[in-house]
Amino acid sequence: MSLFRTKNIEAMLEVSEHDGLRKVLGPVDLVLMGIGAIIGTGIFVLTGTGALTAGPALTVSFIIAAMACGFAALCYAEFASAIPVSGSIYTYCYATLGEIIAWMIGWDLLLEYGLATSAVSVGWSGYFQSLLAGFGVQLPRALSAAPGSVPDVHTLVNLPAILIMLAITWVVSYGVRESTRLNNVMVVIKIGVVVLFIAVGVWHVQPANWQPFAPFGFSGVFNAAALMFFAFIGFDAVTSAAEEVRNPGRDLPIGIIGSLAVCAVLYVAVAAIMTGIVPFAKFEGVDHPVSLALQYAGQNWVAGFVDLGAILGMTTVILVMTYGQTRIIFAMSRDGLLPEVLSTVHPVHATPFTATWTVGIVFATIAGFVPLNVLAELINIGTLSAFALISVSILVLRRTHPHLPRTFRCPGVPVVPLLSVAFCLFLMLHLQVVTWIAFLCWLVLGLLIYFGYSRRNAVLHNHGGDAQD
Ligand code: ALA
Repeated sequence: MSLFRTKNIEAMLEVSEHDGLRKVLGPVDLVLMGIGAIIGTGIFVLTGTGALTAGPALTVSFIIAAMACGFAALCYAEFASAIPVSGSIYTYCYATLGEIIAWMIGWDLLLEYGLATSAVSVGWSGYFQSLLAGFGVQLPRALSAAPGSVPDVHTLVNLPAILIMLAITWVVSYGVRESTRLNNVMVVIKIGVVVLFIAVGVWHVQPANWQPFAPFGFSGVFNAAALMFFAFIGFDAVTSAAEEVRNPGRDLPIGIIGSLAVCAVLYVAVAAIMTGIVPFAKFEGVDHPVSLALQYAGQNWVAGFVDLGAILGMTTVILVMTYGQTRIIFAMSRDGLLPEVLSTVHPVHATPFTATWTVGIVFATIAGFVPLNVLAELINIGTLSAFALISVSILVLRRTHPHLPRTFRCPGVPVVPLLSVAFCLFLMLHLQVVTWIAFLCWLVLGLLIYFGYSRRNAVLHNHGGDAQD
């Protein structure tokens, strides 16, 4: 039974009051933080593949992916308002489903956030190099990509990807106020660029390009939805800031649902306009689909702005994902499931310094040396399973803690959480077999670490007083 021991929620709230993290974030910071983590490689790079998979019905794929996220977001929001402590869904599971499930979900989130930062750094590097090329600057070939990522070209390392990861690690380790300030500026520019695309592009739409609307039928639409889910990942990172929010019960739900809603509207508009300007088949082999659409419309100067916005956009995704990941590691370490050094808070910057640099160096290395083209799917499967679990957890929370104060309640329980589970499982089934195999390997590794280290070192193991077996 001790595998399923749970943490005492009241005790957790008490500890989080005294953990040393500064409470400086408000609702606007949180919405911008959510958008910061959401809009990035998904819309700026992957929409080309999405359009090739679904045709103009890419808009419908976005709506399906947004619905899966929306149902999960409502569950997240209730948890975040009831248990506003570091660690996001990991912490919520520890309070409801039990330690081993919490460990596995935390382990899963490390995969999601870590590989997302690496993958987005690689996307960033591609855009950055094309920007440099615009100024006539060319990096030596060997330093431009991970070995094996460009067929028939000898490359050693993706140096820009490593450098951006390390630069962001430095910012995140420096302080949360500084990180969010930088994030806010970049997010406003990024939203501006997306709105500019919509405002300029809408005048160049040729409705004939929307015919046939769904050339690959339902399966194309669903496969694209499973892929484009990647574009929404990130709103969950808002919850990882819980202990640094001034009024978490009110502001976290606003941050989660607000950022998701803004992005869903922007994405559907961008997808409709893109596929309305360019016949979808022309996206074959294109990794700048959004700016391609503008070039196609003869708006080259706007396309240049979009490229710049994409670079800033991806920078904020790396920033918020790195931030979220360090806070989850912080929480897991504080619970004894990971070594204690990972939850030490820096005396001056008040950030989990060691955890931040550990994460930064590991995932900078992965970004530099591993070709990451298939990783979007791996990140998706990790996230979809996390969303399914959070939805189950809300049902458990309603049973185990019906009277726990919360300022936000997920509407339509149990229908909404069950719909969330159904949508997530459905999208997972549209991912490739190789993704499933890699995911299962990661989970097995997690179990080995749990039984080899975490179970015995858990705070609950040594101070059974908190446990409610
Ligand atoms: N949603 C994030 C992106 O699209 C991960 O880059």
